[in-house]
Amino acid sequence: MISTSAHGRVNLIGEHTDYNNGFVLPTGIPQMTRADLEPRAGQTVFVASTNLADKPFSFELGSERAVRSWSDYVQGATWVMRQEPGAKVCGFDLAISSTVPMGSGLSSSAALLVAVLRAIRGAWGLEGLVDDIRIARLAQKIENEFVGARVGIMDPLAASLATETAALFVDTQSLQIEQVPLPTDQLEVAVINSGISHSNVGGGYNQRRSECEQACEALGISSLREVGMDDLARIDSLPEPLRRRARHVVTENDRVLRAVTAIRSGDCQELGRLFRESHLSMKNDYEVSVPDIDTLVEIASAQPEVFGARLTGGGFGGSIVMIARAGSARAAAEKVVQRYNGATGRVGFVLVPKVAVDGTREITAP
Ligand code: GLA
Repeated sequence: MISTSAHGRVNLIGEHTDYNNGFVLPTGIPQMTRADLEPRAGQTVFVASTNLADKPFSFELGSERAVRSWSDYVQGATWVMRQEPGAKVCGFDLAISSTVPMGSGLSSSAALLVAVLRAIRGAWGLEGLVDDIRIARLAQKIENEFVGARVGIMDPLAASLATETAALFVDTQSLQIEQVPLPTDQLEVAVINSGISHSNVGGGYNQRRSECEQACEALGISSLREVGMDDLARIDSLPEPLRRRARHVVTENDRVLRAVTAIRSGDCQELGRLFRESHLSMKNDYEVSVPDIDTLVEIASAQPEVFGARLTGGGFGGSIVMIARAGSARAAAEKVVQRYNGATGRVGFVLVPKVAVDGTREITAP
């Protein structure tokens, strides 16, 4: 039996930049997905899940077909692995369990994909063929070509490489990756689910991607990475909404670089300011927020122990990420949730920091 796991992630800053060859800065969260795989003779795969709220299912290797359920991610994993030169995969029994909530914008699909791909890699000894970056690329290929969600490389990379104590600074153009340790003596990351479900498979995400492509075409460039803060005047000549979409991407890339500098120098105030700017840009320029999430961010930002807060992930629902003074994140997040639920009638809840059954803060080892 091979047992593997992969963490969910929260993106600190750098939103909708990955598919524009830009910069991202996710970090790992304690919630994770686990896969237990036992090879079996034949070509059939049997899959059961303890908590993904679906009946067990089976499929034949070579006959994988997407049906718009979480089973697509498992079928996608065998579909993609079997295309790797030299990779022989046969039937297996798979048990999945996950604490990464679905529809929260915390990358439950990437965690599932990475856990399953790791299990397949381990069961058939494919470590020499498929390293952790390749696992991330394969997970992205499954999302793009099998599931039909045109997501970028950030989430699979984070599920494959991020830890809870560092920010994963990724240049998605060169795939240069750096672990930037978080100043955990000064700040703590919190994540609050808004109670509004999020999905990348829906229209909004893909529409933003194609608007970025149109902006590139109009500017005569191949990706928005080719323009920077010095080009904002040029971007201003684009028709709406392309002007605002491109402006978000360019300013967000700049914010990621400044956030990395702020983290390195332990400047929590500056990091918080960048969070607030990022949220306004997602709200006004990229238009991926919704009014209740704006309310949640406003309530969070108004707390004295909070440096900054913003919508995280693809948007149109999901979660917010906030940074608070070390030691105060859980209490601050609970206070924010109470006020948000009262103001909106939604059922928001705190996801991170996670509290263990005995009441202590739960941290998963990297
Ligand atoms: C989703 C996608 C990522 C990224 C974010 C937005 O989470 O999976 O690739 O594009 O949205 O930053």
